[in-house]
Amino acid sequence: MTFQKILITGAGGQIGSEMVPFLSEIFGRDRVIPSDIRIEGEDDRFIHLDVTDRDSLDLAIEKYGIDTIFHLAAILSASGEKNPELAYKVNIDGLHNILLAAVKHKIGLVMVPSSIGVFGPETPREDVPIETVTRPVTIYGVSKLIAEQLGYYYHRRYELDVRGLRFPGLISYKTPPGGGTTDYSIEMIFEAVKGNQYKCFLREDSKLPMMYMPDALKSFLRLAEADSSKLIHRTDFNVSSFSMTPKQLEIELKKYFPYFKVEYVPDFRQEIADSWPGSLDSSAAVREWNFSPDYDFSKTVADMVQNLKLKPGVPLPS
Ligand SMILES: NC(=O)c1ccc[n+]([C@@H]2O[C@H](COP(=O)([O-])OP(=O)(O)OC[C@H]3O[C@@H](n4cnc5c(N)ncnc54)[C@H](O)[C@@H]3O)[C@@H](O)[C@H]2O)c1
Repeated sequence: MTFQKILITGAGGQIGSEMVPFLSEIFGRDRVIPSDIRIEGEDDRFIHLDVTDRDSLDLAIEKYGIDTIFHLAAILSASGEKNPELAYKVNIDGLHNILLAAVKHKIGLVMVPSSIGVFGPETPREDVPIETVTRPVTIYGVSKLIAEQLGYYYHRRYELDVRGLRFPGLISYKTPPGGGTTDYSIEMIFEAVKGNQYKCFLREDSKLPMMYMPDALKSFLRLAEADSSKLIHRTDFNVSSFSMTPKQLEIELKKYFPYFKVEYVPDFRQEIADSWPGSLDSSAAVREWNFSPDYDFSKTVADMVQNLKLKPGVPLPS
């Protein structure tokens, strides 16, 4: 059985905070149990859950009769480099706890997002296939690679249905991003809408694959609902809607805000960005579960600008 009771871990984050209403709308409010280590906001369904605490995880699964897990709790790339030990603990031990609990409680489906962070400097730059050189430079990338392989292992060994895809940089406006290398894109759009200048922490030519949040939510659910017998891959689907550089985003934003200016001052995140490819081959996702994003680059920027003008005041990460 799946989708009767869905536990979402890391539900307060950039993706989780939008996944909770998205899944609630589709499956019903009572069938979604959001959890996080930090609880903010007014949703009374939220439960406190630290994924590194195996006993609490077992208790929550039993208490709520969970049959499906969307495991979003993680420490992202830039934050992970500031505290690699924590990133290991949350991203690897935390995921392992989820998989152990899933086998123990006969969970029907475990969804785990991976990332373009699995790639490294030796990976080809353009149109990167799923199977390629994956030698990441961050603890985040290492942890995501291990997560992908653990997913395959648990599927083979225990017949656990584990699925995941490699999200590119995600653009959204509802919740500030959690310390990733592509956060510049969101920050730049926010500052342009506020009428400010922006100091970009990546070089102007750093081309990276990206996706708008509505497509991320739709794709993740489409993979979750896909016919298992049609899946050749499991945990490592490449997906991307478009690629862009910071300069291209600046030029696009100037169409709306002609006086907008960006200064490029790369920091430690440049090295991470340099290790990631500029574009991905998403054809396996198209073939195996009909991946089809709705938002291209200009549509994404237009929608972000429109929504931010309507809903000002969402705080940026400090
Ligand atoms: N946002 C992106 O651009 C992006 C890109 C690729 C992959 N992903 C993946 O998607 C998933 C969600 O990412 P996000 O952007 O929402 O991240 P985020 O940092 O915004 O949110 C992660 C959430 O996990 C929670 N968390 C941290 N430690 C925890 C613990 N021990 N127990 C329970 N919760 C804990 C945090 O409080 C936070 O709310 C992650 O696996 C991430 O690697 C995100």
